[in-house]
Amino acid sequence: MMEKATQITPQLIEKLVYDFYDQIRTDDLLGPVFNAEIDDWDEHLPKMVSFWSSVILKTCTYNGRPVPAHAKLEGLTKAHFDHWLTMFEETANKIFTPQSANEFVSRAHQIAFSLKNAIDVQRGVLPGTPDSLAS
Ligand code: HEM
Repeated sequence: MMEKATQITPQLIEKLVYDFYDQIRTDDLLGPVFNAEIDDWDEHLPKMVSFWSSVILKTCTYNGRPVPAHAKLEGLTKAHFDHWLTMFEETANKIFTPQSANEFVSRAHQIAFSLKNAIDVQRGVLPGTPDSLAS
């Protein structure tokens, strides 16, 4: 196993994204959700590289709309989000030192929380009620 990286480079962001979705695509819980929606992984993966480069390295290359992309996924539950975050954390920690991995993981948690809130709003689910994803 290569040494864990402290420095976050564009090449390592690409590796993180490709390794993560390699795992996701064959995952029992998340694989079917992604495979049903994504026809062209060669389009999705570079988009996700530009998303994470924009979040972490402030490259401003991503200009998509994450909220509608997730709000349209009808069956999403808390379990999907928890598992996504666990898998992302595992992949990040295989590549980066804990401190650098946490740059990604902490942002992923924040973004997941705002996506869950947006999905709650779109579903007309109030915070604190049993169907709420965000609480
Ligand atoms: C339950 C967990 C999640 C599932 C099942 C999921 C699923 C998906 C799917 C199927 C797409 C493709 C939508 C399309 O192309 O029409 C997508 C896009 C995307 N996802 Fe997720 N996602 C999850 C969590 C997250 C989280 C936590 C983040 C960010 C930290 C994220 C960031 C994105 C972004 C940036 C896109 C591209 C949106 C665009 O510009 O088209 N996702 N996701």
